[in-house]
Amino acid sequence: MGLTNSEDEPDEKSFTSVEDEKFDLIYPAKIRKLSSIFWTPVAVAAKAAELLVTAPDTGVLDIGCGPGKFCLLAASLTDGRFTGVEQRSDLIAAAKQAAIELEIAEVEFIHGNVLEIDFAAYDAFYLFNPFEENIFQGNKIDRAVPLSPGLFKKYTSHVSAQLGARAIDTRVVSYMGYADDIPSCYTCESTHFGDDLKLWIKEREYDAELESLKVLRSYHGSRGWSPPRKR
Ligand SMILES: C[S@@+](CC[C@H](N)C(=O)[O-])C[C@H]1O[C@@H](n2cnc3c(N)ncnc32)[C@H](O)[C@@H]1O
Repeated sequence: MGLTNSEDEPDEKSFTSVEDEKFDLIYPAKIRKLSSIFWTPVAVAAKAAELLVTAPDTGVLDIGCGPGKFCLLAASLTDGRFTGVEQRSDLIAAAKQAAIELEIAEVEFIHGNVLEIDFAAYDAFYLFNPFEENIFQGNKIDRAVPLSPGLFKKYTSHVSAQLGARAIDTRVVSYMGYADDIPSCYTCESTHFGDDLKLWIKEREYDAELESLKVLRSYHGSRGWSPPRKR
């Protein structure tokens, strides 16, 4: 199937940050301040959830979930089950606290590194540019975790191989960045919010040799760390 541009996003008027400001009040000030750059906007989370959840109980993994904004919104809007993995302990604590305060049960938050996660336990995957802070000088969440270009390559290759091993028809949604973590056996089926949000579907078998030849486009610059464009 070819690439299509969807007409179904909210217009600029409804795509304001007011709903984000309201939602973000659930977080402590330090985490709230990071939201416009690092956490998925409400309107984007709603669209991503709709693209990922194709049947009741679809299990979705948010790779690098931060304080859980995508998972919490998606769980409140769909019949899916959402799990977030996050390496920063304060963000996982904030995600768990927010789930309690919002009384959202269909979420699970795991403190850990994506390298430790069994991807086979999930049906679909969401990525908001989780690894890019490893390769740029500016825009870091904090200094609490090791960051390096080597780790960028390690995490990106790991996720690419894991996604490659999933069944045909597996869905992945990526937000911002160059989607270096999506292997070539996935086709971009639709784009939303300009081309910031992309739905990918696995259509072919994974080719490890082909992936090893791929040049990671993120090394050449990214527009991953900016608020979503207004339309
Ligand atoms: C851009 S934020 C996105 C947060 C969330 N997915 C959202 O959309 O609101 C990326 C997150 O990935 C986390 N992350 C980066 N590398 C990771 C790794 N190897 N394992 C687990 N989490 C990671 C970062 O700490 C950060 O919180």
